[in-house]
Amino acid sequence: MTFLGLVVLLLLTFASPNSSCTEKEQRFLLDFLAQLSHGGNSGLNMSWVHGTDCCAWEGVTCRGDNTVMGISLTSKGLTGRISPSLGNLSGLMNLNLSHNSLHGSLPMELVLHSTIVVLDVTFNQLEGSLQDLQSLNPGPPLQVLNISSNFFTGQFPSKTWGAMKNLVAVNASNNRFTGQIPASICVSPSFTELDLSRNQFSSNIPQGLDDCSMLRVLKAGHNNLSGILPHELFRATSLEQLSFPNNGLHGVLDGSQVVKLSNLTVLDLGSNGLSGEVPDSIGQLRRLEELHLGNNNMSGELPPTLGNCTNLRYISLRNNSFTGYLSKVNFTLLDLSIADFSMNYFTGTIPESINNLIALRLAYNNFHGQFSSKIGNLRSLSFLSLTNNSSTNIEDVIDLRRCKNLTTLLMGSNFKGEIMPQVKSIDGFQNLEIPLWLSKLTKLKILDLSSNQLTGSIPSWISRLHFLFFPDISSNRLLRDIPTALMKMTMLQAEMNAEQLDPELLELPIYWTPSRQYRLLGAFPAALHLGNNKFTGTTPPRLVK
Ligand SMILES: *[C@@H]1O[C@H](CO)[C@@H](O)[C@H](O)[C@H]1NC(C)=O
Ligand SMILES: *[C@@H]1O[C@H](CO)[C@@H](O)[C@H](O)[C@H]1NC(C)=O
Ligand SMILES: *[C@@H]1O[C@H](CO)[C@@H](O)[C@H](O)[C@H]1NC(C)=O
Ligand SMILES: *[C@@H]1O[C@H](CO)[C@@H](O)[C@H](O)[C@H]1NC(C)=O
Ligand SMILES: *[C@@H]1O[C@H](CO)[C@@H](O)[C@H](O)[C@H]1NC(C)=O
Ligand SMILES: *[C@@H]1O[C@H](CO)[C@@H](O)[C@H](O)[C@H]1NC(C)=O
Ligand SMILES: *[C@@H]1O[C@H](CO)[C@@H](O)[C@H](O)[C@H]1NC(C)=O
Ligand SMILES: *[C@@H]1O[C@H](CO)[C@@H](O)[C@H](O)[C@H]1NC(C)=O
Ligand SMILES: *[C@@H]1O[C@H](CO)[C@@H](O)[C@H](O)[C@H]1NC(C)=O
Ligand SMILES: *[C@@H]1O[C@H](CO)[C@@H](O)[C@H](O)[C@H]1NC(C)=O
Ligand SMILES: *[C@@H]1O[C@H](CO)[C@@H](O)[C@H](O)[C@H]1NC(C)=O
Ligand SMILES: *[C@@H]1O[C@H](CO)[C@@H](O)[C@H](O)[C@H]1NC(C)=O
Repeated sequence: MTFLGLVVLLLLTFASPNSSCTEKEQRFLLDFLAQLSHGGNSGLNMSWVHGTDCCAWEGVTCRGDNTVMGISLTSKGLTGRISPSLGNLSGLMNLNLSHNSLHGSLPMELVLHSTIVVLDVTFNQLEGSLQDLQSLNPGPPLQVLNISSNFFTGQFPSKTWGAMKNLVAVNASNNRFTGQIPASICVSPSFTELDLSRNQFSSNIPQGLDDCSMLRVLKAGHNNLSGILPHELFRATSLEQLSFPNNGLHGVLDGSQVVKLSNLTVLDLGSNGLSGEVPDSIGQLRRLEELHLGNNNMSGELPPTLGNCTNLRYISLRNNSFTGYLSKVNFTLLDLSIADFSMNYFTGTIPESINNLIALRLAYNNFHGQFSSKIGNLRSLSFLSLTNNSSTNIEDVIDLRRCKNLTTLLMGSNFKGEIMPQVKSIDGFQNLEIPLWLSKLTKLKILDLSSNQLTGSIPSWISRLHFLFFPDISSNRLLRDIPTALMKMTMLQAEMNAEQLDPELLELPIYWTPSRQYRLLGAFPAALHLGNNKFTGTTPPRLVK
């Protein structure tokens, strides 16, 4: 025998007993394959073949000793059920089946497994409730549980939950869980992330927030929660994101509590029933980047200290009852790019010194005729809504010709859906014509000048606004003929707009009716609104429908 031959023989002798996964593990995996529906294994059976080394099977990873350690079969188009037999793999640590079309239940054998640390079944069609099991000793090692975007129902299993002493991150968002949020949110001292958004949780936010010293993300928006924000919540001082929008919470934002969350970057309490003022202490949240308080019942003046939140990028105070001078807050040093102050009772001048502001909505306030020429300094603006503020200076003072990036300009007094019944219609711009500076805004896509008592005629340069697909100049006093220029408008020519429009997100949604809003530019319907004017002559034939 040659030396080489000896080496080969030795290698074979040593390697063979351990060179592939065990027959048992193969069987557990093939059980899983068998539970996928017929035709729903997406060719997995080509590599998962009995008698071959399962450590080499698609999506399977093994340890040095050839025990299965991980299974990752994401976005494979798998259909069928998840077999509990995977729970018999005695060394499995990581199971990722996200982005498939698996249905049926999630076997609790996997959740409570003695070695699984990461379990991800996000974006499937799993259903049923998570069984609540009593005595679980010792606590399973599971750290990451992602069951988001499925069809799970029933109560969150509180006893099982209480035993999961090693959890770090749980995402159960976008399911159909009902009942209460578990009474103690943080089961382990290392718990950092909980997302329960978009379910049907009801009742109060639990007060059991002991052991939450590491909690960084807490989200439970779009549920049916009620009651107040419990004081215990503010003991979770590591919180960076606190997000409970679209619930039925009430009470006030307690300044002495909020200030404890000094690491907060996102505070989202929009669309609840909160009342009271924005507390002074908000200025101490130096890391705050997003403040969502729209659609509440808050009032009072804004605290000047808000100007200390120099990292603020997004603020929405829309649809509350805030009063006073918006200029009390010095926005100069803020990093604001999106601001929605609409539907309040703000007065005074508007913030004009924010360099990077991209979207600004001031609609439905009391900025009565006070827009200063400095508004044209907001050069980065892409979205501007001044709807219904009774400004009187569209032509003389407001001059936006340098805001070259404007795509959405809403200056009507009567934009649909933003009508508040108690606000009377206002006289609008008197004896004013459609201003020439508009012709410089070549990126304009949406323009609302309705109900402004504009006179004169429709300028022919309108056809040079090549991207404009929603001009609304209805309910004015426009005279003379409707120019044929309108028919040359690129974006209004049939069939063209759908292809040309990008899937661009509007910086702020456009509220059409309270229940209907547009977030995508492309979704906004192309239309030309000319009605209720004083046009004479004949309507050009192609405009007649
Ligand atoms: C794999 O499964 C599909 C249907 O699920 C079947 O048509 C095909 O013959 C199978 N291939 C092998 C190699 O078993
Ligand atoms: C897996 O273990 C369970 C007990 O937990 C047992 O009932 C089942 O038969 C096992 N599956 C296989 C394929 O051996
Ligand atoms: C599971 O796989 C998806 C897709 O590759 C990945 O985005 C996700 O982070 C994985 N899950 C975990 C918990 O690592
Ligand atoms: C599921 O959640 C975990 C923890 O947040 C995360 O690491 C993982 O990427 C998520 N999975 C998917 C598919 O997004
Ligand atoms: C939870 O999962 C959803 C997708 O289903 C994702 O949008 C969300 O960001 C995740 N939450 C966290 C905190 O990562
Ligand atoms: C929401 O909660 C309230 C009580 O707080 C309850 O009366 C109502 O039925 C719940 N709605 C849904 C859809 O669960
Ligand atoms: C806030 O974040 C910093 C690091 O970003 C960290 O050192 C500090 O401990 C955090 N504060 C709290 C109260 O968790
Ligand atoms: C304003 O907020 C209230 C309370 O959240 C809500 O009921 C109402 O529909 C909102 N109005 C608009 C126009 O968004
Ligand atoms: C809104 O707040 C005012 C006090 O500022 C209060 O009188 C009113 O009842 C509140 N409305 C609702 C619907 O909570
Ligand atoms: C915070 O803002 C207030 C009011 O603008 C100001 O008087 C105060 O000096 C600011 N605090 C710090 C620490 O900058
Ligand atoms: C706002 O702050 C800037 C920068 O600190 C300062 O130059 C300016 O005078 C302040 N404006 C007002 C009205 O206080
Ligand atoms: C206008 O938009 C372009 C493209 O998004 C950007 O590069 C440019 O900086 C913007 N101009 C201003 C003044 O913000």
